Amino acid sequence: MESIQAVKQRFGIIGDDQRLNRSIEKAIQVAPTDISVLVTGESGVGKESIPKIIHSLSHRKHGKYIAVNCGAIPEGTIDSELFGHEKGAFTGATQTRNGYFEVADGGTIFLDEVGELPLPTQVRLLRVLENGEFIKVGSSKVQKSDVRIIAATNINMQESIKKERFREDLYYRLSTVEINLPPLRERKDDIHLLFRKFASDFALKYKMPTIKLQDDAVGLLQKYRWGGNIRQLRNIAEQISVLEQERIIGPERLKEYLPDIGSNLPAVIADKKKESDFSNEREILYKVLFDMKSDLTDLKKLTLKLMESGNSKKVQDENESLIQKLYGDDDGEDVDAEELEALNDERLEVLQIPQNSPKSEHSREKDKYYFAEEIQEEETLSLQDKELELIKKSLERHSGKRKAAAEELGISERTLYRKIKQYNL
Ligand SMILES: Nc1ncnc2c1ncn2[C@@H]1O[C@H](COP(=O)(O)OP(=O)(O)OP(=O)(O)O)[C@@H](O)[C@H]1O
Ligand SMILES: [Mg+2]
Repeated sequence: MESIQAVKQRFGIIGDDQRLNRSIEKAIQVAPTDISVLVTGESGVGKESIPKIIHSLSHRKHGKYIAVNCGAIPEGTIDSELFGHEKGAFTGATQTRNGYFEVADGGTIFLDEVGELPLPTQVRLLRVLENGEFIKVGSSKVQKSDVRIIAATNINMQESIKKERFREDLYYRLSTVEINLPPLRERKDDIHLLFRKFASDFALKYKMPTIKLQDDAVGLLQKYRWGGNIRQLRNIAEQISVLEQERIIGPERLKEYLPDIGSNLPAVIADKKKESDFSNEREILYKVLFDMKSDLTDLKKLTLKLMESGNSKKVQDENESLIQKLYGDDDGEDVDAEELEALNDERLEVLQIPQNSPKSEHSREKDKYYFAEEIQEEETLSLQDKELELIKKSLERHSGKRKAAAEELGISERTLYRKIKQYNL
């Protein structure tokens, strides 16, 4: 029997985690039999190498190996793909076609994302698993095929069974042996190993020096949740390898590549997403970006006015609403006016340009700021649209209830009210 180490080398599997080793060992043990195997584990954990290991260590290794992504084939054609069809079986069936079960006779079929199979196809599959029999679409002739099935899924099959999306009898038939691959976050010692391997692969590919991580960056990598598992780690290693000039990476730099760094609880993220139902994190980022950009534009306007007039009191009087928007709450009901004034004085002082600054320098500065302001405003416009869209969506979702919408948007009810007025919603 081939050793775990040899298999890892042959299939390019990195890691020395106990559970990973046990899974590979199981694959080696089950390979010579014809037992059906179900490979389970989160997305990106490396499920696709298990059926390859099993096939190439089995007596079928000289037969065909066909990998079918059940989730990617349209429901209307999947039966024909798997079992074939007769000429004239449906519109467009101009020829008789052999399905994978016929083509792979004597070999192995890997049914990836098996949980996505439509129910009628599940019935056909159960039959072929039980006695090797299948019927082409549009035919009445029973055919035989000797195929070994290995399936994989990243969904919770028990839930699918409960929801009657997956047949329980087929599940038991497929999972005679189950091989589960652990998520990356539970393979802490493998994380840096994998990163180093990917970093060195990408250094070769892009002909650049290899990226290296400082110790505290390694710690950060090990604490991260890795929702996309090894696929995500690989992508991040590639991004850093391509984008970073400085090849020694510290934790701060690394953080920029790790989304949701603060939130390490998978269930909470999933639930929150459902609640807020933003189509993706990008929308939320847009919102944050919008707030920052809008503040920046306002600050630039204010700075420019200060530079032009050199009189902070005058600028303050003329731009009351802008200042309140930036530093305080513009509804003003419970804003302490004196406090606000003091605060504004304090902040504006920092921006004040001395009255006697030379004229030419002053106008040079002015030119520069006008340029910056123009660009800024253009960018803000599309971000403003984005914010408007976010607010509208949120209000719709909560049937106009401001409190719930504000909560979802992460802003105070009063700020939301102000924005509703601002956008005439
Ligand atoms: N142990 C490993 N060593 C090196 N690379 C790995 C390892 N495990 C997985 N990979 C790589 O990670 C990527 C994702 O693996 P794979 O496609 O097998 O994921 P999966 O479990 O099938 O995910 P999904 O459920 O989303 O299809 C692939 O590029 C694969 O080569
Ligand atoms: Mg896969």
